[in-house]
Amino acid sequence: MKMNSRFLKACHREPVDVTPVWFMRQAGRYMAEYRAIREKYSLIEICHHPEIAAEVTLQPVRALGVDAAILFADILLPAIPLGVGLEFSKGEGPVLQNPIRTMEDVKNLRPVNPEVDLGYVMDAIRILRGELKDIPLIGFCGAPFTVASYMIEGGSSREFLKTKTMMYSDPQTWHALMEKLSVVLSDYLVAQIRAGAQTVQVFDSWVGALNPQDYQEFVLPYSQKILQDAKKENVPVIHFGTNTTTLLPLMKQAGGDVLGLDWRIPLDDGWKLLGDDVAVQGNLDPTLLFAPLPEIKKRVHDILDRANGKLGHIFNLGHGILQHTPVDTVKAVVDMVHEYRVDK
Ligand code: CP3
Repeated sequence: MKMNSRFLKACHREPVDVTPVWFMRQAGRYMAEYRAIREKYSLIEICHHPEIAAEVTLQPVRALGVDAAILFADILLPAIPLGVGLEFSKGEGPVLQNPIRTMEDVKNLRPVNPEVDLGYVMDAIRILRGELKDIPLIGFCGAPFTVASYMIEGGSSREFLKTKTMMYSDPQTWHALMEKLSVVLSDYLVAQIRAGAQTVQVFDSWVGALNPQDYQEFVLPYSQKILQDAKKENVPVIHFGTNTTTLLPLMKQAGGDVLGLDWRIPLDDGWKLLGDDVAVQGNLDPTLLFAPLPEIKKRVHDILDRANGKLGHIFNLGHGILQHTPVDTVKAVVDMVHEYRVDK
């Protein structure tokens, strides 16, 4: 049965009644319902319990009226079966206990069978497909560069010093790691599609730390493998990064039916760099959700004016929702997008 979804139509650059909208990190600590669950379970426990992960996925769908659901999980979950380890410590973000620094470390990574080792994610997807009805479900994984950066640094990073040092000083180890990660992440994403995800997004959140030459040599072939493997499963694929103004043409070459734009580039300029044969997603600055509603409306309309009714725009933020964002404002943005008319 084909879904009558404006989100899926926009991914395929087909006509829509109004612009579809969803938000990266639409489930999370800015919502009281989520905080209530987090009082009882850690982030990793939520992911490990498919019923709870499904419930958290549904919270923003009910509260906001968005046009797509994104599975509640984390891009770093594959670090657990790989043997790198994963913990979320209070205030510090992710901690990966056995970081990868040498060829030996790469060789010691364990083989991963996503259906078994990350089977709880597929179970959450199967539950959600039974509950979501007309709202499509987005599955996701991290792109090899962004996931590798956490695995090499052992956590979040500003400068990516250890990551880039491996890339520039020990390229053999870098390529061996990217090769392994691209296989694991591709298998993981394909398993999500086969479990029922109707679209997938590949998050290369931090790839904007690279220049185009390095992207082409050290990243593109590996992202391309994942994006192409997902494409073969016949679902739309979203390719997202931030700080990517200089990388957009190469990211398009790597793949994706939809390319994510952050707020640093005007939507029409970004779309021009990419060309008319891809859809785009974006690109409100997440900090604008803390501004007064009239200012937000001006900026939301500016983005929609720049899209100018062209087929294939999905409204989103340029990056994830921030922790203290007012829920009512997020809901108001959904309504602003749905109420907007190009010929107003
Ligand atoms: O609603 C959704 O978007 C789905 C769930 C989702 C989470 N993480 C849950 C989560 C998604 C899509 C992600 C992706 C993710 N995780 C990315 C890529 C997207 C991006 O924002 O760039 C990255 C880089 C991660 C890694 C990660 N996970 C970090 C750095 C942190 C710590 C940040 C913090 O605020 O402490 C996380 C934790 C995390 N993943 C939270 C959520 C809702 C934080 C909330 C909590 O602890 O309950």
